[in-house]
Amino acid sequence: MLRNRIAVFIFILSVTICLTTNPCSEGPQVEKNPLECCALPDLVEPSIMMNCFSKWGEQTKRQSKMDGIPRGCCVAECATNATKLVKNGKINRKETQKIFLASSKNNPQWHSIVKDTLDECFAEADANKEEIEAGAKLKPSYKGEKICHPISGHIIRCMRMKMFNKCPGNVFQENNQDCMKLRQYHAKCPLN
Ligand SMILES: *[C@@H]1O[C@H](CO)[C@@H](O)[C@H](O)[C@H]1NC(C)=O
Repeated sequence: MLRNRIAVFIFILSVTICLTTNPCSEGPQVEKNPLECCALPDLVEPSIMMNCFSKWGEQTKRQSKMDGIPRGCCVAECATNATKLVKNGKINRKETQKIFLASSKNNPQWHSIVKDTLDECFAEADANKEEIEAGAKLKPSYKGEKICHPISGHIIRCMRMKMFNKCPGNVFQENNQDCMKLRQYHAKCPLN
């Protein structure tokens, strides 16, 4: 129960940040948050996420309002650092698969979704390699801004959005209006 509450709390924090695409900036305009519609497995330990939000949440919120090449999400990089998944902007794919799959080890339904989605997200990151690398080379635009490599945010955002969209029918709250709206919204917009 507590774990769930923490996940919802983190989620609410996180919806507001790491958003980059414009049609999504208004938010979904519903009361519910996606995790109430579909409980996603925690890819990264909630305590790690919480710690990373408290360190980098504010900066990420500020950066998300900036134009130009998307800036890397330091919340995400902090999380992949803590789980030792990235080194010099290279994400260890084998290790990431291992860690992410551990989140659904007792849940066969999610297990295959996590696995397939991770492959898709790596392919997407490869396709967007140039923009991701360009983001890594940005210079701080205000005093104290930390530049993070965009790869971590890219993978985590991609995972959450696609997993939400693939939420199994027996898990998703289909009889709820807000949830149906969220499903439409998140077909195009990240949950992160
Ligand atoms: C992640 O680790 C790298 C390498 O140690 C470091 O340069 C970077 O500042 C760390 N990022 C965050 C958000 O802590």
